[in-house]
Amino acid sequence: MLDAQQIALRFLRTKLQVHPDVVQYILEQDNPDLLERIIAQVPPDTVVVTSKCIPGLDTLRDGTRFLADPTVDVVSGSAGTSGGINGTADFIHYFRDRYQRLGTMIRSRCGAMPIEGLIRSTRYRQEECTIIGMVVEVKSTQNGHRIAAIEDPTGTISVLFRKDRPVFSVAERLIHDEVIGVRGKLSHDGKLFFAEHLYRPDIRIDNTPFKSDRAGRAVFISDIHVGSNTFLEKEWGRFCDWLQDDPAGYLLIAGDLVDGIGVYPGQEHELLIKNIYEQYDRFGEMLRDLPSRVRIIISPGNHDVVRGAEPQPVIPDAFTKKFPKNCTLVENPALVNLQGVRVLMYHGRSIDDMIGLIPGASYDKSGQMMEEMLVRRHLAPAYGRKTPIAAGRQDRLIIDPIPEILHTGHVHVSGITTYRGVLGINAGTWQSQTLFQKQMNVNPTPAEAVAVDLQTLRPEILSFGYKPQTA
Ligand SMILES: [Fe+2]
Repeated sequence: MLDAQQIALRFLRTKLQVHPDVVQYILEQDNPDLLERIIAQVPPDTVVVTSKCIPGLDTLRDGTRFLADPTVDVVSGSAGTSGGINGTADFIHYFRDRYQRLGTMIRSRCGAMPIEGLIRSTRYRQEECTIIGMVVEVKSTQNGHRIAAIEDPTGTISVLFRKDRPVFSVAERLIHDEVIGVRGKLSHDGKLFFAEHLYRPDIRIDNTPFKSDRAGRAVFISDIHVGSNTFLEKEWGRFCDWLQDDPAGYLLIAGDLVDGIGVYPGQEHELLIKNIYEQYDRFGEMLRDLPSRVRIIISPGNHDVVRGAEPQPVIPDAFTKKFPKNCTLVENPALVNLQGVRVLMYHGRSIDDMIGLIPGASYDKSGQMMEEMLVRRHLAPAYGRKTPIAAGRQDRLIIDPIPEILHTGHVHVSGITTYRGVLGINAGTWQSQTLFQKQMNVNPTPAEAVAVDLQTLRPEILSFGYKPQTA
């Protein structure tokens, strides 16, 4: 079987460049004729072979999303669905659900066998096969290889990703608790699995986003931090004025509406409004100044008053008395449907964890962080680190169904990405650099909003005149 480099070289010999998605597709198909069939059918004048050149690959379009009613439809994450935390009893259901659902996504692309069956039988020694498991542990060996313990419901096995193999670069980005498939061979003694290819749940390369059949425009923001002495009142005023004249029908806010109280040590010295009710009242007044024709969809973040464990419930009534009627309160995460265009709102706390675990990841690459979520089909893959997760009977952080737009915030740095048809928007902030961010060398991009045309899904970054003060 050819590896990625050989496939790319084969295309180059016919004077064609090839998109990495196509290489990945060929590697996964296990069909020796596919490569030549693609080359034979590439339309003339093609420079880069993309997924559109793969014969027989139809674009996916889900016809069930057409809506007669133009109002916001909350698909998941409506009030009261986050569930309680029932101690340790639900943990086993939670991880089984995560394994089953993500494992099924991988299994649709490759046949896999149970780990215990593989270890016990001598039949499969040195024979290529695939296993699907959750990453229990991952580390580098003394010789610079990566080794991971992979677990499925039947057993656990050590998988070696050798540094001289093409699979190594993908394995460098492994995070514990993500679900992966690995193709390779078991060692003679049955103790070690040598990996050659790694499958993630991922998004199919033929995924085609739904586009609204009628005019519509949505604006995406997050991290307002009302109550903080770094909240940018003047810039917010400009945004408010702009929205009066803009045809946008939807405004989505992905959490950290207020700065909260007691979120970090010494926060009281950085608060203009020290009462949590007053912070939300002020935020409510600000929303009332926005045009009432705009539907406002609000989900919470880690600075908000609700529990930190995700999924986070909606902001309770006691805090939303001053919110206008055109607000829809949803949980974090929540999937909302705007004219058939599905938006997955997630505050983005897991980005803190991913920055610590993925080589090269950083706060100023928020677009890349959203891709890391999409490829794993999970909003917060690593369990038990900075992102608290309420282990309910179902894993609500799995990305399923695939949205047209993933909307995050948290890092205060705007970022836009497109990954396999999904538009990722990290919406920045309305707070200037805090002392903590200064210490952490995080340079925020305040007072920006992203507007998206729902008929084309084209994003537009709008800036509301923030100028950093020079010391
Ligand atoms: Fe924030």
